[in-house]
Amino acid sequence: MHIQNDISLKPFNTFGIDVKAKHFISVKSVEGLKRIFSSEEFPQKFILGGGSNMLLTKDIDALVIHLNLKGKTVLEQTENEILVKCEAGENWHEFVLWTLEKDFGGLENLSLIPGNVGTSPIQNIGAYGIELKDVFHSCDALNLETLEIESFTKEACEFDYRNSIFKQHAKDRYIIISVVFNLSIGHHNLNTNYGAIISELENMNIEQPTIQDVSRAVIAIRQSKLPDPKEIGNSGSFFKNPIIPKEDFLKLQGNFPDAPHYIVSENEIKVPAGWLIEHAGFKGKTFGNYGVHKKQALVLVNYGGAKGKDILNLSKLIQDTVVRIFGIHIEAEVNII
Ligand code: EPU
Repeated sequence: MHIQNDISLKPFNTFGIDVKAKHFISVKSVEGLKRIFSSEEFPQKFILGGGSNMLLTKDIDALVIHLNLKGKTVLEQTENEILVKCEAGENWHEFVLWTLEKDFGGLENLSLIPGNVGTSPIQNIGAYGIELKDVFHSCDALNLETLEIESFTKEACEFDYRNSIFKQHAKDRYIIISVVFNLSIGHHNLNTNYGAIISELENMNIEQPTIQDVSRAVIAIRQSKLPDPKEIGNSGSFFKNPIIPKEDFLKLQGNFPDAPHYIVSENEIKVPAGWLIEHAGFKGKTFGNYGVHKKQALVLVNYGGAKGKDILNLSKLIQDTVVRIFGIHIEAEVNII
């Protein structure tokens, strides 16, 4: 086991927060992972995937395990469908591009999402009308108590909006080691209903889009709104879009007739947190070396050298202000460590 001590985690989190790991190991095999978990040398352990959905507010006084399992395999194929298995440590967007090169359909709307394949089921990543659950077949996870590999079907994962069993009762009990996707071949069902995709394809003068065109449109939209973590530290949407009772929404609409919203069920309405934050006056606000992104208020940014605690405090100020103005609580989507 090659264990390093006092390592900066700055390159391992997309927010670019400079905290230290007391001990650090990069793991390339499931056997290696099992060895670490069966050893008693480091009782405190912390799993690090793509580091794209976390805000680190302190040094990690534990063995930080960087999951570096790689590989992609086609499992089986029928006339219209293909099952592709991808190991947890593959970069999400590189995997999406690989599927598109092979003309496998289903992941195009999820292009350019930061993070790794193994963490994608945890929060059921989603964008532009598609969620991971729509293309998910199953995943394998290491049970940290028994050190056995268990397989989870789609139903077993209990997917919901930015949620799954791995954020609920299976939290901290498993490490996802690989994910199997159910993709299309030959004939693809495109999902271009999301307004911005349609207008982007029109801008590109494309009438009969391919999956590769949809991916290019999504990439263009994301690049125009969301900061590239390589340039400006961030974790994508910092908050979830709140789902509120219909009667609360009607009150909100009474005061703010233009409030955008999506109907979730007969009694529930989803309101974009970005709109609430913008109308609470935070969009584009800068506080020294951190702030709220100027093009998408849902994204908090580190312009360089910010402390995790500063960004956490800003998120609390935003939450308190949104409650005061709109009476709506917005919940953090990123994991605060
Ligand atoms: N809006 C504002 N001001 C803003 C941002 C948004 O008024 O600063 C309004 C927009 O005008 C629009 C509505 O909010 O009416 C929705 O905006 P957008 O389409 O940008 O999507 P979102 O709800 O803000 C969600 C996801 C994103 C995903 C996009 C596209 C969540 C928490 N976020 O954002 O996911 O890319 O939809 O599907 O559900 C992520 O999770 O990291 C992420 C970026």
